[in-house]
Amino acid sequence: MASPVVPQAIDSGVVTRVLDEVYTLCRTEIGGAPADYIPELAAVEPDSFGLCLATADGRVYSVGDTDIPFTIQSISKPFTYALALADRGVDAVGQRIDVEPSGDAFNEISLDPVTERPRNPMINAGAITATSLITGRDAAEKTERIVRCYSRFAGRDLSMNESVYTSEARTGFRNRAIGYMLRSFGIIDSDPDEAVDRYFRQCSLEVTCGDLAIMAATLANNGVNPRTRERALSAALTERVLSVMTTCGMYNAAGDWVTTVGLPAKSGVGGGILAVLPGQIGISVFSPRLDEHGNSVRGVAACRELSQRLELHFL
Ligand code: DON
Repeated sequence: MASPVVPQAIDSGVVTRVLDEVYTLCRTEIGGAPADYIPELAAVEPDSFGLCLATADGRVYSVGDTDIPFTIQSISKPFTYALALADRGVDAVGQRIDVEPSGDAFNEISLDPVTERPRNPMINAGAITATSLITGRDAAEKTERIVRCYSRFAGRDLSMNESVYTSEARTGFRNRAIGYMLRSFGIIDSDPDEAVDRYFRQCSLEVTCGDLAIMAATLANNGVNPRTRERALSAALTERVLSVMTTCGMYNAAGDWVTTVGLPAKSGVGGGILAVLPGQIGISVFSPRLDEHGNSVRGVAACRELSQRLELHFL
């Protein structure tokens, strides 16, 4: 998948027109509902809708609610996986987390029956394992390193939404069960409560649709933030993260996504979706109404339309 970053001539007028058309079309989608299994997530304006496209050389096109903060949730997973790979190396991480699509829901309490490892880093079992592998002197430093990593991708200092964190910390028993399962199988060899707490914190980091577009464009730009010019991740690890996003980023909707949109992507229950055309562009959508897989209804529809109209499908 390694893609030379040679942004194709992108016609600004065409991109602006297509974004407007897709926004107008997808706004009529009123299905789905915001997540409420974390009570604080229900406290959003359900019909917020923002759409951004950022090029690998740093141009940003936006329409709608692209400055509203929301929590990153599972879109955090590829970035923490990236940091774990950088901290521990591909082999050490590979001994604990596989890279196989699971076809399972994101919060499935399961390990691969043969390897006894989480099937991939995009489902919660793999994500909590990745979070446990982040290095640092203590819990605070490990969390701080995660925040700094995401901030390098976004090109600004991100911070946590304390109410969403507290709400998930109060109710996240299923993730605690996953943490204890991982500890009992020796996948996590540190304190599982600490790893799960850090996972709740990373999920509660606030981003805007504009931030997600720059994070996506940084992945598109082989790991270099096109705005700040800072390297957030090596080119080799960027390639690996994008590969796993391709096969596992949309959970049990991954097959449908790859065939209809054809881009590596990641969704979150905060209503965000981030998609990447390697070497070219990053796309982000924010709309809190979710489908049965936990993916944004308008987000999926908008990415499909954009992929078709701008001919982005590359898989
Ligand atoms: O593990 C959880 O429940 C959340 N904090 C994140 C889940 C999520 O975003 C799933 N994605 N669509």
